[in-house]
Amino acid sequence: MHVSQAILSRRSHKMFRGDAVPDEDLKHLLELAIWAPNHKFTEPWRFTVLPKRSFGALLYALEVSADTEKARSKLHKLRDIIDGAGGAIAVRQVRSPDNPERDLEDYAACAIACQHIQLGAWERGWASYWTTSAGFIGGSLADFWHAAPDERLVGVIFLGKAALEMTAVRRHPVDSLAVWL
Ligand SMILES: Cc1cc2nc3c(=O)[nH]c(=O)nc-3n(C[C@H](O)[C@H](O)[C@H](O)COP(=O)(O)O)c2cc1C
Repeated sequence: MHVSQAILSRRSHKMFRGDAVPDEDLKHLLELAIWAPNHKFTEPWRFTVLPKRSFGALLYALEVSADTEKARSKLHKLRDIIDGAGGAIAVRQVRSPDNPERDLEDYAACAIACQHIQLGAWERGWASYWTTSAGFIGGSLADFWHAAPDERLVGVIFLGKAALEMTAVRRHPVDSLAVWL
């Protein structure tokens, strides 16, 4: 699959068919992630890999962290996503609190790493969805994802075989977005 094809055809998917993503594919996605551009070679990313066989631990952590009625009422939606998903990768950024410019650039680099994961997964036939939902990463779940106090959880990317075809939400035409000099 060519890069342009992967970019244009990748869509976010939340409903998956249950197949487990093999460890070899998860490892491949990490190898792609670390080739994201990063200023001054800070390599600000850290990863937490959650193969399907470890989903039970996530389910338990979600239940423990759902400490309000609202959070508990959303649990079944999260369980549905997890039931179908085949693996997940959390991307964590090592923060630079004393250097806001670096911190921002490092966040950008980590976001690119996330997209490398999504595109690389798609190339191998795995759909994905990047979430920053508090239900998955908020509160005490930072510990589950091994996010240290000096780190930010950039997101969790759930991976799996797409259960449905997702139609693209339209994008504004580039002519309305770009200024040519
Ligand atoms: C930083 C970031 C956080 C996101 N968090 C969520 C999320 O919490 N829940 C969700 O449904 N989608 C989330 N997404 C995915 C976007 O909703 C999705 O990319 C967008 O709808 C465009 O759809 P596409 O990926 O199919 O092009 C996130 C995307 C980014 C870049």
